[in-house]
Amino acid sequence: MSDDLRRLRSFVRTRAFGRVHEHHAAVGSTNDRAAQWMGEGAPHGAVVTADAQTAGRGRRGRTWVSPPGDNVYASVALRPEAVRSDFGAIGLAVAVGIAEGLPIEVELKWPNDLIVGGRKLGGILCESRWMGARPDVVVGFGINVHQREFAEELVAIATSLALQGVVVARVDVLATVLGTLEEQLERFVRDGFASVRAAYEARCAMLGRMVVVTAPGGEVRGIAEGLADDGALLLRPDGGGALRRIEAAEDVTA
Ligand code: BTN
Repeated sequence: MSDDLRRLRSFVRTRAFGRVHEHHAAVGSTNDRAAQWMGEGAPHGAVVTADAQTAGRGRRGRTWVSPPGDNVYASVALRPEAVRSDFGAIGLAVAVGIAEGLPIEVELKWPNDLIVGGRKLGGILCESRWMGARPDVVVGFGINVHQREFAEELVAIATSLALQGVVVARVDVLATVLGTLEEQLERFVRDGFASVRAAYEARCAMLGRMVVVTAPGGEVRGIAEGLADDGALLLRPDGGGALRRIEAAEDVTA
């Protein structure tokens, strides 16, 4: 197993992201360790990585299967100085930042799945804890890099850079992604989601297509027309009617 991620600090070309770094051979969840570290004073931009996670978490309480050595499992500690009212769209800005740094053309599936060839290359889990007027935020992401074999339930829906013919060291992937992610998040925190929206829409393969959204109120079918300035998905219901705002969804299929 390569230990390349341990040397992240000498690869990053960022202002803050990854300049302070902690690597684990195995950890429960890099998000949990980053949150704990923030409580102990980790600075803005500190990064936790691991070769394996024993309790990797996905969105909506799902498990993120995290076998050793092949992939990037990383969490960044963010301490934004001020937050705007659209801060809830941070996951979409993270998706753009990561996609821009990957060595392959990546599409986005709302809200923040990283898709190549119709399959999931990576996922994002942002978690915040409010500290008075501002949040401590952990931006976690997993990117499948070298993995070539997936469990039966993932074979048809997951992919990796290696399976897409891209052979690259994990540390190169992560160092480049941290650069583009830092840039997008600085823009997002300063100017809001509206400043990232066009870049998101340009990569969002769902736009203009019929999608089925499993939302808290039930299932909605319609054409995904675009995104609102706060990151909500704008859906024209099948059969017509007023544009619907989808703010949270269990699942979206195209
Ligand atoms: C998803 O698509 O459901 C989100 C997956 C997020 C996985 C990453 S791996 C690093 C970080 N630590 C975790 O426990 N989860 C995120």
